[in-house]
Amino acid sequence: EKITISVIKADVGGWPGHSRVHPALIERAKEVLSEAQKEGTLIDFYVTYAGDDLQLIMTHKKGVDSSEIHGLAWEAFKKATEVAKELGLYGAGQDLLKDAFSGNVRGLGPSVAEMEITLRKSEPIVTFHLDKTEPGAFNLPIFRMFADPFNTAGLVIDPKMHMGFRFEIWDIYDHKKVIMSSPEEMYDILALIGAKGRYVIKRVYPKKGHPIPEDEPVAVVSTEKLYEVAGEYVGKDDPVAIVRAQSGLPALGEVLEPFAFPHLVSGWMRGSHNGPLMPVPLKYATPTRFDGPPRAVALGWQISPEGKLIGPVDLFDDPAFDWARQKAMEITDYMRRHGPFEPHRLPLEEMEYTTLPGVLEKLKDRFEPVE
Ligand code: 13P
Ligand code: 13P
Ligand code: MG
Ligand code: MG
Ligand code: MG
Ligand code: MG
Repeated sequence: EKITISVIKADVGGWPGHSRVHPALIERAKEVLSEAQKEGTLIDFYVTYAGDDLQLIMTHKKGVDSSEIHGLAWEAFKKATEVAKELGLYGAGQDLLKDAFSGNVRGLGPSVAEMEITLRKSEPIVTFHLDKTEPGAFNLPIFRMFADPFNTAGLVIDPKMHMGFRFEIWDIYDHKKVIMSSPEEMYDILALIGAKGRYVIKRVYPKKGHPIPEDEPVAVVSTEKLYEVAGEYVGKDDPVAIVRAQSGLPALGEVLEPFAFPHLVSGWMRGSHNGPLMPVPLKYATPTRFDGPPRAVALGWQISPEGKLIGPVDLFDDPAFDWARQKAMEITDYMRRHGPFEPHRLPLEEMEYTTLPGVLEKLKDRFEPVE
C-alpha cells in the first residue's frame, strides 16, 4: 500500500518584516493538523518554519493533489493568518492570493511538493525548505544529486544507480514539460536547467530496472510561481522539495553534498537580487542581512512502516557546513557592494518588484532618437 508525503508551505505573516514565523502561527497550524490526525485524515505531521514561511509536512493515504489534504493545509494557513492578523505580523496572509479554496492549493499561492510512494524496507527522506528564493534554486543541487558523478559517487560505483535517472523538467512560463534521460541527454538537460528562472526540475524518476517502480518519483520540487498567480510581485516563491535517499538512490551525504557550495540564486531583498544559498540549521533560518542571504534548511526523516515521520534531524546543524556558511557570507559581502547594479540586482526581465515601468513612463516624452 502506498503512502503520500506532502510538504505544503505558505508565508502567512512575518515576524518582524520577512524574517521568520512567529511561534503562535506554528501552534495554530499544529492544532488544525492534530485534529485531522485524530480524525484519521493524516497519519502523521510536523509543522515548522523556514524564514517567514510556515511549513506543513504531512503523511497520509489520500494520494497527491487530494482536495482533503489541500483543504486541510488551506485551513491551517487561514487559521494561522487570523493569528498573524491579531498579532499585527507583517504581510499577514501574504501568500494566500485567492479568497476561496476550490479543491487544490496549486494556483492559490502556497507551494506544494508531494509524492505517493511504495515504502521501501527503510525509507530515508530529506525535506528541503528554502526562503528568499525561487524553485529554480533547486536545479543545481538536484542535478548534482542525481546526475553528477563528481557529487554522487553512487552513479559510478553502485550498480543500482549506474543507469542514471530521468528528469521531468517544466517550462514554467509556457506551462509545458519534458522528460529527459541522464546521462544520455545530460548536456541538453543542462542547456535547459541552467536557465533556472524558466526551466525547473519538477521530478526525478528512476529508470526501468531500478528497484523503485518507474512511475514513482524519487525527488519532487515545488514549482509554483507567485508572480504568475498574482500578476505582480508579492514575495518570492520560497520553494520546498522532497528527496528520497539510499539503496539505489543518492546516499544521505550525496543528497546534502551540493549544498556545501553556496551557489548563486535569485531572490533575497525584494525578490530582486542574486545571492548565495546558505545552508543553515533551523535556528539560523531567519534571514536578516538585506533580508537574506537566501537560506536552505534540510530536515532528515525515516518513514516508519505505518507512515510515521521519524524525525526531524536538522541536517545542516553540523560544523561540516560551517565553511559553506562562511563562504556564503563572503559572497554576501561581495555581492552587496554592487548595490543597485547587476548582476547583484536581477536583470530587468526578472525584476518583479520594479519601479522601472513607472520610470520609463515618466521619461517617455524625454527620450529622443540618437543620431
Ligand atoms: P552503510 O554501509 O553504513 O549503510 O553505508 C552505506 C552508505 O550509503 C555510505 O555512503
Ligand atoms: P518573502 O517572499 O520571503 O516574503 O520575501 C519577500 C521580500 O521581498 C524580502 O525582501
Ligand atoms: Mg514574507
Ligand atoms: Mg519567505
Ligand atoms: Mg515568499
Ligand atoms: Mg553504516
